Amino acid sequence: MTTTLPAPTSAPPHDAFPINGTDYVEFWVGNAKQAAVFYRAAFGFRLVGYRGPETGVRDRVSYLLEQDKLRFVLTSALGPEGAIADHVRLHGDGVKDMAFWVDDARAAWEVAVARGATSARDPEVLHDDHGEIVIAGICTYGDTIHSIVERRNYRGLFLPGFEAVDSPFAPAPIGLKYVDHCVGNVELGKMNTWVKFYEDVLGFTNILTFDDKTISTEYSALMSKVMSNGNGRIKFPINEPAEGRKKSQIDEYLDFYRGPGVQHVAIATDDIIATVREMQARGVEFLTVPRTYYETVLDRVGTIDEELNALAELGILVDRDDEGYLLQIFTKPVQDRPTLFYEIIQRKGAKSFGAGNFKALFEAIEREQARRGNL
Ligand code: FE2
Repeated sequence: MTTTLPAPTSAPPHDAFPINGTDYVEFWVGNAKQAAVFYRAAFGFRLVGYRGPETGVRDRVSYLLEQDKLRFVLTSALGPEGAIADHVRLHGDGVKDMAFWVDDARAAWEVAVARGATSARDPEVLHDDHGEIVIAGICTYGDTIHSIVERRNYRGLFLPGFEAVDSPFAPAPIGLKYVDHCVGNVELGKMNTWVKFYEDVLGFTNILTFDDKTISTEYSALMSKVMSNGNGRIKFPINEPAEGRKKSQIDEYLDFYRGPGVQHVAIATDDIIATVREMQARGVEFLTVPRTYYETVLDRVGTIDEELNALAELGILVDRDDEGYLLQIFTKPVQDRPTLFYEIIQRKGAKSFGAGNFKALFEAIEREQARRGNL
């Protein structure tokens, strides 16, 4: 195993870019109305807010979905003009914005821009009867951005412009709790550029590195570095393709997304068996590993609380590190382009990312790639 952990360092005297946590994840999609039904029905999100022509916004519609600490925004353009329509035409449905919740958005934006970030949105104050939001934004890889949201003087639902929705269509939540990590795919040779961006601009640190020896199958390879913010609540692994005998899964993503972007969003649950069982019953498709995986997994990870048969039946993977173990599973892409997918993860002490599963997982991805004619 060639996973390398950086030498432990003492805690920095102060957080170079304080972020409280993920504020929301916004998706720009072709048909937000239908996407909202998918996330409600299959992922158990609740529709709580809406912004569109009825609320005074003329060029777009947005649906605000929540489940526990997760806040997803689905946005579509109302015509062929403008950034949203251009983004969807080029990239298909995907993640546009991984927004940060901060205490002082102006200061955060100023610091980021002074350290070299490109502004995606200059600081702006949004008002309504519930107070004010200060919002700014910076660019990251591809056309993806990080909004920077200050909500200490706001008591409303979400953002000015959104109205509360109370829909009778409310499928039960399935135990999804918060964003564990968001993974970006970038071009060959660009991983370290973005690692440096998160280090220099946002004060993140590189907490794990996977080289192409760790992450390779018979056919293809990739490299990955995991970046974490000061309080550890934001974790961004960044992948780049590596030379292999055939086309890397990262290359397939870059081809179909037409550039860098978010590859997967990992969502935490406290009961992965119940969550995944429900998702499968509601029509979410997951990658599967061969049955033989379960014949040897306990030799690798030792004793676990869960019944192996239940994990095998659902296709849930297990890995262990020094601090405990984790359970994880990956969906197939959630749109027709082989781009964005989800990971469902339950951590039982482990703080790592399932390196012991990479080979089985990537072979599963490559079987799908081959079926699409892209391997
Ligand atoms: Fe992941």
